[in-house]
Amino acid sequence: MGEFEPKIIGFLCNWCSYAGADLAGVSRIQYPPNIRIVRVMCSGRIDPIIPLEVFMRGADGILVLGCHPGDCHYVEGNLYEERKIKMLKMLIALTGLEPERLKLEWVSASEGQRFAQVVTEFTEQIKKLGRSPLSGEKPNQKIFENLQAAKNAASDFRLRVLVGRERELTEKGNVYEEKVSQEEFDSLLGEVVEAEFIRHKIHLLTKTKPLSVKALAEAVEMKPGAVLRQIVEMRRRNMIALDHVEGTTPFYKALEVG
Ligand code: FES
Repeated sequence: MGEFEPKIIGFLCNWCSYAGADLAGVSRIQYPPNIRIVRVMCSGRIDPIIPLEVFMRGADGILVLGCHPGDCHYVEGNLYEERKIKMLKMLIALTGLEPERLKLEWVSASEGQRFAQVVTEFTEQIKKLGRSPLSGEKPNQKIFENLQAAKNAASDFRLRVLVGRERELTEKGNVYEEKVSQEEFDSLLGEVVEAEFIRHKIHLLTKTKPLSVKALAEAVEMKPGAVLRQIVEMRRRNMIALDHVEGTTPFYKALEVG
């Protein structure tokens, strides 16, 4: 059997990395042919749900390449992308897929050699990780459903607002000029990402049929008390409602979220 040839999707900024890839091509610099390139006007234009969707379709790896900090044509699109990728990696880690399958690098228009090196190293890294559990004829259903929950969580405005405010909170401070350290912010982001993922997972599970707290706790591998706390918050947000009671056990069903 031949060596595994990963399918890698590369999102390249038009102004820098795409030109860098072009330079590598015209300079005849060798790099692995595994990458399929998608040109975007700025790395910051890549919505967080796009990489999750690409993974759901079986890609083995995703490489996002943007302009070096300070060189973005839209001022800070690349730095905003960096914060989104950090949040996405936290989400992906919860799904069972390896977050190392997603990578962000800076490559300028004059760095044809660097482009080839980044693609070569990333291809090697993905070869070591092996095929995506979502590629092939029998994709891993649990990871697929987890990615769907991650996608719904990433669509939610709460995570977007938090990612959008990272710089303001860590560099400028809030209205009282109180700054949050980077460590504190990352730990808060990790907690919010996990809570949003669990809520959207519960939402997906209760979409098809009403479920009890016990059944949900088993499905999401959490203690019933922790699941109940999430259900209280989800009821407050109109994500879920009481469907019926069997004996003394309440069953919950997802509501459509707008
Ligand atoms: Fe290249 Fe924004 S224009 S990353």
